[in-house]
Amino acid sequence: MTEPFDIVIFGGSGDLALRKLIPALYRAYREGNFPSGSRVIAACHNPEDAADYLAKVTPALQEHLAAEEFCPDAWDQFKEFLCPLVLDVAVADEQWQSLSALLNPEPEKVRIFYLAIPPVVFGVCCQHLAQVALVSANSRVVIEKPLGYDAASADAINTDIARVFDESCIYRIDHYLGKETVQNLFALRFTNLIFEQLWDAKSIDHVQISISETVGLEGRAGFYNEAGALRDMVQNHLLQLLSLVAMESPNKVNFKSIRAEKLKVLEALRPMSGEDVDKHTVRGQYVPGSYNGDLVPGYIEELGSADSTTETFVALRVYIDNWRWARVPFYLRTGKRMKQRCAEIIIQFKDVSHRVYDDSAGPLAPNRLIIRLQPDELIQLTLMSKNLATLDMQLQPATLNLNFSDTYSHFRSDAYKRLILDVAAANQSLFIRRDEVEQAWAWIDPIIAAWHTSGSVPNLYRAGSWGPDESDALLEEDGRRWFNNGEVLERE
Ligand code: BG6
Repeated sequence: MTEPFDIVIFGGSGDLALRKLIPALYRAYREGNFPSGSRVIAACHNPEDAADYLAKVTPALQEHLAAEEFCPDAWDQFKEFLCPLVLDVAVADEQWQSLSALLNPEPEKVRIFYLAIPPVVFGVCCQHLAQVALVSANSRVVIEKPLGYDAASADAINTDIARVFDESCIYRIDHYLGKETVQNLFALRFTNLIFEQLWDAKSIDHVQISISETVGLEGRAGFYNEAGALRDMVQNHLLQLLSLVAMESPNKVNFKSIRAEKLKVLEALRPMSGEDVDKHTVRGQYVPGSYNGDLVPGYIEELGSADSTTETFVALRVYIDNWRWARVPFYLRTGKRMKQRCAEIIIQFKDVSHRVYDDSAGPLAPNRLIIRLQPDELIQLTLMSKNLATLDMQLQPATLNLNFSDTYSHFRSDAYKRLILDVAAANQSLFIRRDEVEQAWAWIDPIIAAWHTSGSVPNLYRAGSWGPDESDALLEEDGRRWFNNGEVLERE
């Protein structure tokens, strides 16, 4: 367990705090991972929220935890660690003194400043922390996406924060890196000889990384319509997953090696601009459809605006120009209001080099490794095997199935819990370094610019489908298909 810490959540009554951060800290407490003597200081902009913090946070916790997780006794105990206070991060008034009064008596204690506030006020919040001399040697700052809108705005945010905090104290969260299965990808790759030996262009035909969501705008119309799927999901989550799949082995599992290797992958992404963007990307936007038998509005209806060309879906064919991955396509895909919620990485191996059985044994399917992050957490490997129920040689695919959701049914993984505890332990391995953010934007910006220049608009797809037909066509051009939720499904 880490030493006691104070976590100051700026935006303490906001959506992120109520949906993710407080539940994560409460889970840590219930599991015995919240060090005694730690405190959660919820800095609320609105005085009413601070005055009646528990009335706001208790129902939110009940809503965002599974029923069996919420224990009234444990919550009563955990409440003792919550210290709400009123603070407007943008104003240098005497309210900062209330924060100083809470923190200063323990100058050596670890301080985590969690900026659950809009990025436009990251800089001013950090300045105020410095002005009231709250940035101690043991202080860390946590920031979340959206880290900018493009390379220039990301640079401005990073520069503002760097005026106050050294890079070694800045924790840029990508919550996908806190998912347990993502870390398991590391274990799988770097502790199993059988995979690492085959993890390259000689053996792998292609890789698919897909995050499909069934939700729509979830009350974030303003942000989302400005951002779109490429900025919201690809610039961060998908490129981070891609980096982990494609990176070289780190010398050690430590933050220096891991982040250095991830950066090399981002640097090796083949740039796309102009006509390449038309060729290798597909944008989509959902129109009304149905999900689980219910009618679902289209994006325009949800947005309540006459028109928008924001993409709610994107599919890309990406190449990594290095020795290991030469000519291996990585297909990335993400979208809102799709048929199923599923996040998975699929490694499709090549066909065997020579077929030893004659045709009567049936078709051969190449090996496929599926790493599913959600909704269930599993690793599956498909192999060819003999059908044992027949005397003659009949081949059939069989699956080795490591279903972590079954094995760890008592354990609820929570990316935010793991990441906050990593901040407390000063472990930066699962956080993004400034140059990674910059490199990711440097690759994304020309794609967005090319979309604007071409004047093209997103292809439409029905809510509740797997995206626009053009997304299927992107793979069909290469003689391949999307594996939707692990399987190749026939297009409806
Ligand atoms: C966020 C995006 O970063 O990730 C959201 O801003 C998206 O649009 C969310 O819904 C998905 O996260 P998860 O963990 O639910 O897959």
